[in-house]
Amino acid sequence: MSESFFEKSNNVPDTNYEQSLRPPAFSEFHGQDKIKDRLMLMVEAAQKRDDVLEHVLLSGPPGLGKTTLANIIAGAAGTQLHTTSGPQIEKAGDLAGVLTNIQKGDILFIDEIHRLHPAVEEYLYPAMEDFRLDIIIDSGPSARSIQLNLPKFTLVGATTRAGMLTSPLRSRFGLVNRLDYYSRDELAVIISRSAALLEIDIRPDGASEIAARSRGTPRIANNLLRWVRDFAQVRGNGIIDGKTAIDALAMIEIDNDGLDEMDVRILESMIYKFNGGPVGLSSVAVAVGEDASTLEEVHEPFLIMQGFVKRTPRGRVALPAAYTKIGASPTKAPDELF
Ligand SMILES: Nc1ncnc2c1ncn2[C@@H]1O[C@H](COP(=O)(O)OP(=O)(O)O)[C@@H](O)[C@H]1O
Ligand SMILES: [Mg+2]
Repeated sequence: MSESFFEKSNNVPDTNYEQSLRPPAFSEFHGQDKIKDRLMLMVEAAQKRDDVLEHVLLSGPPGLGKTTLANIIAGAAGTQLHTTSGPQIEKAGDLAGVLTNIQKGDILFIDEIHRLHPAVEEYLYPAMEDFRLDIIIDSGPSARSIQLNLPKFTLVGATTRAGMLTSPLRSRFGLVNRLDYYSRDELAVIISRSAALLEIDIRPDGASEIAARSRGTPRIANNLLRWVRDFAQVRGNGIIDGKTAIDALAMIEIDNDGLDEMDVRILESMIYKFNGGPVGLSSVAVAVGEDASTLEEVHEPFLIMQGFVKRTPRGRVALPAAYTKIGASPTKAPDELF
């Protein structure tokens, strides 16, 4: 039971369910206030000048609202959104195909933009800067470059790995926004909104208990809500109060701090196999049998934010809170840890 729930809940999108809960406008998008303010201002300014929006980069861990914001921006600006992703654009011709389908003012949303092929990225620069595409046709002696003028468009890029973006690409965005984990209170509001949409009867303490276990992430909050609803319907009277939420989430072994099975495995491995560190990320990845990039994008930022793990120049180190969490006692003095 818990295995299959973890597979589903591990911050992986479930498209239909997510679509139905996705806020359609800034007014329903809760949290990330600074980013929202900037984006609203940018949309308003462009509308006043009757100009297209600047290029926008959205970065941050999965499930925080990057795709949602891209859709909201397009809606607010009243433009069409075209969606693609870094790995989908394999060659310059693919990019040309996408860009030549765009109308003036449209938004091109490139998800996972850090995974763009370097050769494709070269073509994107003049497209972003001067709205032109230089394409080489033919090869060998007859090769020649043709220039294609593009309508003015807006690129919205999303990435879970802002650090992996090349600086020439990064510098071509007018606005760079880093989304942060949500507070418990913000998540409780998001959960209550979702519950209302799904016609679930939830009490404030129920929303708050789910929020506390959602790793700062709306996608996880919505996924946990679904489980708690099922639990409340089968084991209770359908109403989600604090106790129902706690019992439901205990049943699938989500702990008080929202750590899932993989988070706990990471901490155990750092402490028991690597003596608390410093240890390289790839060694931990091998030890827990997970992809290093998943560890880096999904698990590590949360463990760092919660004060369980620290990044040092020599590798990752387990902090005292990690020992407490898994019930181990540190074998090194605290000052030896760094
Ligand atoms: N600020 C928010 N308010 C309400 N729901 C949100 C918010 N941010 C994200 N969500 C919900 O979380 C889910 C995941 O968001 P998404 O935009 O797909 O994340 P990302 O693209 O960053 O991985 C969506 O279903 C969306 O409804
Ligand atoms: Mg997304």
